[in-house]
Amino acid sequence: MTATERGVGLADQSADAETMLAWFRRMRESEPVSHDEQAGVWHVFRHSDVERMLAEPGTFSSDFSAFMPAQKDVDRFLKGNLLRKDPPQHRKLRTLVSKAFTPAMVARLAPRIEVITDELLDARAGAEQIELIADLAYLLPVTVIAELLGIPAGDRPMFGRWADSLVAPESQTSFIPNEERTKAMAIVMREMNAYCLEHIRDRRARPGDDLASKLVAAEVDGQRLDDEEIIGFVGLLLLAGHITTTALLSNVVLCLDEFPHVAAELRADISALPGTLEEVLRFRTPLAPSMRRTTTDVRIGDHTVPAGKIVLGWLASANRDERRFAEPDRFDIRRTPNPHLSFGHGIHFCLGAPLARLEVRIAVEKMLARWSDISVGEGVEHHDARGIVGAKRLPLHVRWA
Ligand code: HEM
Repeated sequence: MTATERGVGLADQSADAETMLAWFRRMRESEPVSHDEQAGVWHVFRHSDVERMLAEPGTFSSDFSAFMPAQKDVDRFLKGNLLRKDPPQHRKLRTLVSKAFTPAMVARLAPRIEVITDELLDARAGAEQIELIADLAYLLPVTVIAELLGIPAGDRPMFGRWADSLVAPESQTSFIPNEERTKAMAIVMREMNAYCLEHIRDRRARPGDDLASKLVAAEVDGQRLDDEEIIGFVGLLLLAGHITTTALLSNVVLCLDEFPHVAAELRADISALPGTLEEVLRFRTPLAPSMRRTTTDVRIGDHTVPAGKIVLGWLASANRDERRFAEPDRFDIRRTPNPHLSFGHGIHFCLGAPLARLEVRIAVEKMLARWSDISVGEGVEHHDARGIVGAKRLPLHVRWA
């Protein structure tokens, strides 16, 4: 029986979140480690197995270069992409970029994020119909990343266009490296590489207080990042930090619409917001799968996965595993502990998690303060839930306070 016959397959056109959750539930029970012959990958569904996959980089590698045809522009881009690196290269890159991308630097961004959010909301002042994605959720993360890097305001639309091209086409299968996808990405990356290179050279000559300047200056044990590594990291910030944050913000609004008592509770006591965001992250996991390559034959549950295979660890399934969470299908903003895997686990744990949490917290606080009533309207469009769980169009009716 193939995964498609069981209900969902990677070769299908797309799937919605409900279909995926039903599939996960079935698979966690009946086939927690499953070979998908059609897509040529393995699926892992239980929390303990997914967590282990993320915790053992020696067995589950993040380097997929063997699956990708050599492409000069993509190779340059991959050099600094720590998400696709294994130890020891990962450690070197992560230590260096962590020196520049510190929690303190992120915390200092708060006033700017407030201003950007206010400007975006002001642009729609008084409007009763809002399209959350176009009006706020899409622009906020890309503007923050551009600002963080010191990209001049005039160049930001171009920056946004690259972010779009890199995350689209957004079907799940595009997560799996293939020749067609690599070629399409190479075109965007060439343009982006040239721009970033110039930006980095400019920062070397005239350092400022931005992340690009700090990346240029970062040094650990006499090691520094070269230009190509910085370009790759900038590209990764765009790829990893954009659509996921947009999706999370849309998921908060969808959850508050589905559970109005939580919206009322937050309006009465905003201190419940951080716990609510963690539960939204668990309940509607923005990045549904995480991908690895087996370096050796490995036993997972009752199966031996051969070496050299792509394994999809379903974060969205792990986050609903009844073995790990009591009443996993209940939305509970006071759930403690809440060991969701939405930001990953282990050495690749999301570097941008503090930034994502900060952006979304500020945006939700401002939405609740400005809009005394928020309800989801007609015409919601979702991403393909095999990749991203979140809305790509989210019309809202709002009443201004
Ligand atoms: C809600 C929003 C976000 C979600 C759900 C998310 C999710 C994730 C996940 C699951 C991983 C690990 C993937 C794996 O191990 O295969 C990851 C890694 C990463 N994320 Fe995020 N992310 C978000 C926002 C951001 C932001 C805002 C940034 C930066 C601006 C960012 C930068 C990164 C980077 C650089 C890595 C790679 C870390 C490494 O390989 O060491 N992310 N993210």
